[in-house]
Amino acid sequence: MKKQENITTIKKDSRTEREVIIDIRDLYKSFGKVRVLNGFNLRLHKGENLVVMGKSGSGKSVMIKCLIGLIKPDSGYISVMNNEIKTLNRDTLDILRSDIGFLFQGSALYDSMTVRENLEFPMRRHKKRLGLVSDTTPMVLEALESVGLAHAIDLMPAELSGGMKRRVALARTLILKPKIILYDEPTSGLDPITSKEIIELMLSIQAKYGTSSLIITHDVDCARVISDRMILLVDGINYAEGTYEELITSTDPKVEAFFKK
Ligand SMILES: Nc1ncnc2c1ncn2[C@@H]1O[C@H](COP(=O)(O)OP(=O)(O)O)[C@@H](O)[C@H]1O
Ligand SMILES: [Mg+2]
Repeated sequence: MKKQENITTIKKDSRTEREVIIDIRDLYKSFGKVRVLNGFNLRLHKGENLVVMGKSGSGKSVMIKCLIGLIKPDSGYISVMNNEIKTLNRDTLDILRSDIGFLFQGSALYDSMTVRENLEFPMRRHKKRLGLVSDTTPMVLEALESVGLAHAIDLMPAELSGGMKRRVALARTLILKPKIILYDEPTSGLDPITSKEIIELMLSIQAKYGTSSLIITHDVDCARVISDRMILLVDGINYAEGTYEELITSTDPKVEAFFKK
């Protein structure tokens, strides 16, 4: 069975004529008295690597969870590929999610499953989208080859280094050939060399699959290498936007303070 066509219609940005893949407007979210998002806006364009930076606890993960419907915002408009999230029922949200790959903070592998079984897992969950797949091996191998780990197909997670685990997790997000990849702190907990490898993989995946990516990080090096554009989340809003160069040379006190620490 083919995926529903209406899920993939794409809207143009009226100002720039670039396809808008993710559109977040005036997003508000509080937990009790704590106001986390206070009118946040974001647009991700097709093929773009957009980095959102902000200090720890500033609401980056909350924002990304609102985006995929894991957290219900208090108010605001969120659409992904022209589908307004809050209007979707469970099934349509599920179809939309199959177009989105996630690499979340500590996105763990199942320890009791081989690498192959870990990659087959999302295929089972979204088997409607994939149709009948009689042999999963070619898809599993292609995803593993994209992260340079085809040889690890029959290993157990315990046999992998931290960097290899992250790469397998990345391969698992690729298995459904997502149009969008969301990365939440993709380099956290990795040493500088392994971080660099992951960043290079993210770039090569974008080149190979033409994905649009939203990357949350507080790794300034990662942001410098990967970003086409950046948003600095301060006080619950998209406080500053621009290229890495523009932000790093900004004389705004809050932007300067962020990069100085
Ligand atoms: N489910 C939740 N319930 C209550 N507070 C939450 C919840 N999720 C996040 N928060 C709070 O929201 C704020 C932003 O968290 P988060 O988005 O995780 O920050 P970060 O920018 O580091 O990703 C923090 O103060 C956090 O404690
Ligand atoms: Mg976070």
